[in-house]
This record gives sequence, structure tokens and C-alpha cells, in this order.
Amino acid sequence: MSVTDTRGRPLRDLRISITDRCNFRCTYCMPKEVFGRDYEFLGRDQLLTFEEITRLARSFARHGVEKVRLTGGEPLVRRGVEELVAMLAEIPGLDLTLTTNGALLSQKARALAGAGLRRITVSLDSLDDDVFRAMNDADFPVERVLAGIEAAASAGLAPVKVNMVVRRSTNEDSILPMARYFRGTGHILRFIEYMDVGHTNGWRMDDVVPAQEIVDAIDRELPLEPADPNYRGEVAQRYRYRDGSGEIGLIASVTQPFCGNCTRARLSADGKLYTCLFAVKGHDLRALVRDGATDRELHEAISAVWGARTDRYSEIRSSKTAGLPKVEMSYIGG
Ligand SMILES: C[S@@+](CC[C@H](N)C(=O)[O-])C[C@H]1O[C@@H](n2cnc3c(N)ncnc32)[C@H](O)[C@@H]1O
Ligand code: SF4
Repeated sequence: MSVTDTRGRPLRDLRISITDRCNFRCTYCMPKEVFGRDYEFLGRDQLLTFEEITRLARSFARHGVEKVRLTGGEPLVRRGVEELVAMLAEIPGLDLTLTTNGALLSQKARALAGAGLRRITVSLDSLDDDVFRAMNDADFPVERVLAGIEAAASAGLAPVKVNMVVRRSTNEDSILPMARYFRGTGHILRFIEYMDVGHTNGWRMDDVVPAQEIVDAIDRELPLEPADPNYRGEVAQRYRYRDGSGEIGLIASVTQPFCGNCTRARLSADGKLYTCLFAVKGHDLRALVRDGATDRELHEAISAVWGARTDRYSEIRSSKTAGLPKVEMSYIGG
């Protein structure tokens, strides 16, 4: 039975963070000054087990969730992630996908596809090795992420989506090289406006490169035309190259917010349900599960949270809201 919130939005997508750890330290997401040696990540017993995740995902599917995305932190650093994929792939009618930084993808692509993963999104912020190494702050080379993307495509996880977060004066010069490189490969490049998630990245509006500016820059060299959305509520705006060599997407969450169509819930690695990326407080589903809640009780708890949802942060974002306390993206699941 599907459930709608106070603004009539149904619950359709669920992002599950399966770990708050990561092998990168992207400066805009897990800056080293905060996520350094002394940072206390969640302990093993605090993480939802694969059985708990699967039970919750089934309950969400009964609420109308059609799409589940595994994320983190870096989902591929969680040991046995392919077993979790296999368990979730058994839930009927669920579109199962995963977002990764690609570092471990060459090794894992086959096992993930074999376990029932259908599609994958790989984050890559630049093709310039110096820029990329500086942004991931783990000295990780571009080449290995590119190899991961190819491994995913050959394993059948195609079309691969490639996400690039664009930050002014950091990687804006990489926009055109990325467009040129991925055009004609069958992979879909998507540009994401840098957002004020968490409270450690020191976000400023000046750091955002508006999606329209990105489209204009590409269009001047590689002519584009708008394409229709694939489905209602699709967050990426699609554009096609006029010469038929593929498409790109733009996720303009800052300059053109899409709260009105947002059908997404997030489950943190320790089992808290968040109804918005910018939420401050989560609802503890792990406690319910571990206290022996029945399926019905679990169902009712999720319905109650979603039914009371009012979130529209991106529509009311301002210089004032940017400073409000928020949870980190690596914890809540990007
Ligand atoms: C938090 S990561 C988790 C999955 C995986 N580690 C990865 O990097 O793909 C998910 C996505 O969020 C993006 N992201 C992180 N911080 C962001 C920010 N401040 N603004 C926009 N996107 C951000 C990342 O670039 C990545 O594409
Ligand atoms: S964006 Fe992904 S890869 Fe980068 S630090 Fe955050 S979780 Fe890790």
C-alpha cells in the first residue's frame, strides 16, 4: 500500500547507506581535518546487518518503493556487499542500483552483476589526474576509476552513469574534457551542483556552478537539445547531443530545486530513517527491529514518519539555512 506525505508526495525511492566509511577523503564530503585518524566511525554492532537491511527494504517495498540505491560512505568497502545485493535482488519488482567512487570496481563489477545488480553510478570529478587526486585527497589516480567504469560496462551494468560534482575554481575546467571523453561511449555523464550538505565542507553559494552555465558551455562546442524526462520526478534534466552521440544529465538541486517531486527516503548505516538529505533528525528503525517489532509495527512506523513529512529544504535554502546543523552525506547516504 503506498503512502503519501503532507504535500501529497508518494514514497518511491530508498537510498541505503551501508557504511559511513570511505577509502577517499573528497574535500567536499569527508575533509581530512574532520574525518582524520581520530574520527570515530560506527562500530560493527551499530551497523544494520544484511538481514536487517533486507527486512527493512521489504517493508519499504510494501509502501511503494520501487527503486533502492546502495550508497555510503563507499558501499564497496563493506565486506560481502555482493551478498547483500543478492539478498535484495530477491525482492520482487525492485530496481536495484549502487553508487560508488569506483576505486574497487574493477575487482567487484562481475560479482555485483552476478549477484543481481542491474545498474551502477560511478562518481568521477575530473579526468585531470592532479585535480582528481587533490579532490579525492587519497592520491587515487583517474585511470583506475576509468578501468572500473569499463569493467562495470563489460559486466553488463550498462549504461553506466558517471556523476561529476562541479565546484567553482576547483574542477570547472574539467567540464568540457569530461563531456568530450564520455560522448559516444554509451555512458551517461551527469553534472551535479555542489550542495551545502553536512556542516564540514564550508559550502558557499559562490562555489556553485549553475547547471545552466554548464549546459551553455557544452552547447557552445557540442550542440545540445533538451530531452524529455524518462519518468515523472526524474531529478536529472536530460540533454542530447544533436549529432546523436549520446546524452548528459544535470542535477540542479541548488539553482532549480525539485522538492515538490521528491519521493526519496534515506536509511543511514545505523538504521535511522531520514526524509530529506538536509534533515537534522532521523527516526530510529534499528531500535524497532532489534526490539522485536512485528512486520506490521514496522510498516506502521514507516507510514507514520512518511505521512508526517513536510521537508522542502532546497526550496527555502538561503545563506542562513546553509549554516544550520545537518548530518553528513557520508553517514546519511549520498
Ligand atoms: C556521498 S557519495 C557516496 C557513494 C560513493 N562513495 C561515491 O562517491 O559515489 C554519493 C555522491 O554524493 C556526491 N556528493 C558528496 N558531497 C556532495 C556535495 N556537497 N554536493 C553534491 N554532491 C555531493 C558525491 O560526489 C557522490 O557522487
Ligand atoms: S563522495 Fe563518496 S568517495 Fe568521496 S568522500 Fe564522500 S563518500 Fe567517499
